[in-house]
Order: sequence, then structure tokens, then C-alpha cells
Amino acid sequence: MQITALVGALAAALSFSVQAQGPIVIKFSHVVAPDTPKGQAAERFKQLAERMSKGRVRVEVYPNSQLYKDREELEALQLGAVQMLAPSLAKFSPLGVKEFEAFDLPYIFPSKAALYAVTEGPIGKDLLRKLESKGITGLAYWDNGFKVMSANKPLLAPGDFRGLRMRIQASKVLDAQMRALGARPQVLAFSETAPALRDGVVEGTENTPSNMYTQKMHESQKHLTVSNHGYLGYAVIVNKKFWDGLPSDLRSTLERAMVEATAYEKTIAQRTNDAALEAIRRAGTTTIHTLSPQQQAEWRRAMMPVYTQMEARIGKDIVRAINRDVGR
Ligand code: LMR
Repeated sequence: MQITALVGALAAALSFSVQAQGPIVIKFSHVVAPDTPKGQAAERFKQLAERMSKGRVRVEVYPNSQLYKDREELEALQLGAVQMLAPSLAKFSPLGVKEFEAFDLPYIFPSKAALYAVTEGPIGKDLLRKLESKGITGLAYWDNGFKVMSANKPLLAPGDFRGLRMRIQASKVLDAQMRALGARPQVLAFSETAPALRDGVVEGTENTPSNMYTQKMHESQKHLTVSNHGYLGYAVIVNKKFWDGLPSDLRSTLERAMVEATAYEKTIAQRTNDAALEAIRRAGTTTIHTLSPQQQAEWRRAMMPVYTQMEARIGKDIVRAINRDVGR
């Protein structure tokens, strides 16, 4: 065989074997609906990653806890059953990184700008780096928004929470926050929350309007208070072994896709939550309350002991550093 024919045959064989192997699959599992900020950004990442890699990767997005619930998805990521997740920052303590619960502290971020100063600055980067020893690489922070409270009675003063069974995410800071209000916190996976509200297993909850509306939680909650008392956001994470094993040019391409998807996410998060609150209002199932400045001050006062109670758990330094970054 002539040398050119040999090279041609080798090239053909190589290209056949690449095609036969097919694209690298990234399974991206999450627990919320596709039309939430996280759901939309996951879809955007899929489009960008597949286009920018020219088909070398295929991203399969599994929304609505289709594959795994909250706790299980972290285990699945570490085992390599899925490659990518974006759990809320309230759900990282099972990985042994309790510092993420600082994001759950009541009234920690006075504004979105203050939040971004933390997530995009050294504190945000340090926290993601802490995941490396757990076999996880942190790629980005994604936004959802500030939380509202809901129940079947108006929640206007801290005393209104007394004895209420309130669903929370698995965060000790959120547990302390509900106890500070006199409520009885109950940890439930996200997928179990709307049914539990419907069946009266829990009487109320906190979440962002987009999460409440897309799970139809408002249909069994007669009252909602726009309290903005806490924040809900995410870290996008990948299995480190999988990520490190990617060809480096492909990894760079995916990093660029993630930067673009993250910028997109930031532009839609607030808008999606505003639209969801409006949709809840229009649904007519739920009375929406806002707090007077005096009521806000009472809520704040009731929840402030959480900072000292949780200091030992999440670390004084991180709270001090966040306070510095947000200009307090
Ligand atoms: C919740 O469990 O309420 C949230 O973490 C769900 C989510 O991923 O936004």
C-alpha cells in the first residue's frame, strides 16, 4: 500500500472510531421545574455546550427530581452516576462544607449587588475550592432570589409563626431561623414539599416565588409574605474526576459555555421571580402581604440571634468576611 493510501485508511479508521464512540455525555440533574431560573440556565448551558463543542458533548438535562432527590443527587455525583448538578447553597453541608450555610443567614445580603460581591470575589472562589477534596469541582454560582414566606394564615409578625410546621431545606441555619420565629422546622426534599403542603403534613414554607409557582405550592397556601428575609442560590458543580479527565481544549470550551450560561442566568433570575409572584397574584388563591418598615424591623430582630447561635458551625471568619464584602 502506498504511504498516502495508508495515511488515508488510518485517518478514516480513526474518524470511524471517534464517531463510533459518540459524544461525551454530561448528565445534568436538578430538582426544579424547567421554567425556573435554574431550569432555564441548564437548558441554555446545554445549547451552548453542544454548539460550542461542535457536538463533541451531549448534555442531558433531567429536571424536577426525575433522576434523584436532593440528598441522593449529591451521592450520585460523587459516584459518577451523573456529571453535573446545581444544588442550592443550603444543601452542601452533607458534603462536609458547612460554610456554605452562611448564605442562609437571615438578611445577610442587603441587595443582589452585595451578593455578587461575595460570589464573584475571593470568598466565593475559596468556598468552591473547598469542594475539591470531596471529589467535586465548583464551576459557577447561579442565582435564584430572595425568599418569601407562606402559610394558611397571614404571617405579619414573628408571633404568627408560633407552633407552625414549616418546611425547610436541609440547613441548620434555616432550622435555627425557623426556631427563632417560634416555628417547628421540618426538613423535606424539594420534590416532597408541594404534596406535604397539600396534605397538611407541613403548614407553611419559605422559597422563591418561581419555585413556589412552578410547583403549584400557592394552590395550598392562602397567604404569602414578601419578606425577602433570606437568599436562595446555587453552585454549579461537576464530578472532579470526570472534569479533569476531559481533553483540555474541550474543558476550556465547556468553561466558556458555563460563563455564558451564568451571565444569562443572572439576567433572567429576578425577572422570572417577579413574573411568578405576579402569576400567583393573578391565580387568586393566595393573599400577598408586604411588611411595613416596623414589621420588617421586628422580623429582623427576632432572627438576629441566629448569627451567634450558628457562629461555631459556619465559622466567625466567613460571616465577618461576608459582612466586610457587603459593606457592613
Ligand atoms: C428547595 O429545596 O427549596 C430548593 O433548594 C430547590 C431549588 O433547587 O431551588
